[in-house]
Amino acid sequence: MTTISADSLPDALGAPARDFISRSHRLLIGGEQLEAADGRTFSTLDPASGREIAEVALGGAEDVARAVAAARDAFASGPWGSMPASGRERLMHGLADALEARAEEFAQIESLDNGKPVGLAQYVDVNGAVGHLRYFAGWPTKIEGGVLPVSAPNMHVYTRREPVGVCGQIIPWNFPLLMAAWKLGPALAAGCTVVLKPAEQTPLSALRLGELALEVGFPPGVLNVLTGDGETGAALVDHPDVDKIAFTGSTAVGREIGAKAGRALKRVTLELGGKSPNVILPDADIEAAVKGSFQAIYFNSGQACNAGSRLFVPADRYDEVLSALAEAAAAAQLGAGLDAGTQLGPLVSAEQQERVLGYIASGVEEGAEVLTGGEAALTDSGGYFVAPTLFSTTSDELRISREEIFGPVLVASPYDTLEEVAERANAGEYGLAAGVWTRDVGNAHKLAAMLRAGMVYINTWGAVDPSAPFGGFKASGIGREHGHDGLDAYLESKTVWTAL
Ligand code: NAI
Ligand code: MG
Repeated sequence: MTTISADSLPDALGAPARDFISRSHRLLIGGEQLEAADGRTFSTLDPASGREIAEVALGGAEDVARAVAAARDAFASGPWGSMPASGRERLMHGLADALEARAEEFAQIESLDNGKPVGLAQYVDVNGAVGHLRYFAGWPTKIEGGVLPVSAPNMHVYTRREPVGVCGQIIPWNFPLLMAAWKLGPALAAGCTVVLKPAEQTPLSALRLGELALEVGFPPGVLNVLTGDGETGAALVDHPDVDKIAFTGSTAVGREIGAKAGRALKRVTLELGGKSPNVILPDADIEAAVKGSFQAIYFNSGQACNAGSRLFVPADRYDEVLSALAEAAAAAQLGAGLDAGTQLGPLVSAEQQERVLGYIASGVEEGAEVLTGGEAALTDSGGYFVAPTLFSTTSDELRISREEIFGPVLVASPYDTLEEVAERANAGEYGLAAGVWTRDVGNAHKLAAMLRAGMVYINTWGAVDPSAPFGGFKASGIGREHGHDGLDAYLESKTVWTAL
């Protein structure tokens, strides 16, 4: 396996991140760092320059089998299964503390591997991951069954909540560490063991997190990290000894995983795509709505499942709102995530840049008007930058109005009435998030009830908390992460009948 020389990494990296990135990156299976069985590797790139930053082991089906076996050994009668709930709680707090103590290192690793601004990585990804682990660290000691008042006489009946078992968790590249924490928190709290498969574009932070879990005392095999690509993920889904699959990513892959899980009757939760409508009502605080709508789409360069990617503006405020948004988008500073002052980083990969530019071209071809952006940016950098783009159209039928773009591209449209906008907002296959900007409490909650979406944001966008369910209606997924719902997805109920 080749290692990239530490000297060729950006100067902005601190020593801990530099040391980690320039080490060799193997699979984490049963507490050991192992090469892939067939010796394959892949490289991960800096999306701001297109340069290789590290070489990483590429797990195959044999590695999946080894990792699932390690997770099975740690479960049930293994060290994780036999640990009291308070022990899981202590270890999860230990992991959260260790992550917090290395916040800067993780933020830098994430910024270089994914491209996002390092401040965003620290505030949203690392702090969010710490908060998530802490919230779920509180659960192990509070998972309770109940005693049931059944009608049969002389029966004692109670329920137990038991961990689902070995979980295959497949995560995307847009918030790599945070998505790992979202998946691991409830699984570990419930007492499950995990094989975690990070995305091939951003494998590094999950590997570092796996090491940290061992350092703070998690028994070997509780958290296995298998780096690799879609085939690695598919092998994990196909493995017969995996009890549950949790997936965040594209709707196409989610459908495939859902179908496979259905056939095998595995538990499954899916967090998929979105095309979320953001509605400004006539009485909104327009300045706040413009600022919020800007963040809703351009945050993380539009690479967020809950991005507010369709904007509906009252016809008589349309020009005012769009010119303010276009001005803000044109002024945004693009750059490498590790550069001070960068507001918007590159897209994660050449493939994603191409996909987004393809959507922009289709929007132009289908007749939408480009108010700003509409092209690649910083083209001399070798990175995958796209200028923040604002489209205007009166049609809801364009590809850019219906399909998830997953880039810094907002599609705005005017409307006339509340009923009209609710209907247009609900059209389409997705139902992840929706937003309303208004000063009228009645209209806010009327619209919140009418919108078919898993999350509705009123006078804000994209707020998340570990206690607040996150997930989608319709093609945006199955199940919810976070809170009680998130934990339940990792528990089975067992009813125990005793004749007295
Ligand atoms: P993807 O769905 O292919 O990748 C997500 C994860 O699934 C990665 O870890 C990948 O290795 C794994 N994977 C891929 N094929 C698999 C298979 N057949 N079985 C099991 N695991 C598999 O997403 P991709 O290609 O990186 O991005 C494509 C589009 O997906 C984006 O343009 C965006 O629209 C959407 N997406 C949505 C995300 C979300 O947060 N909902 C996150 C990432 C992408
Ligand atoms: Mg990368």
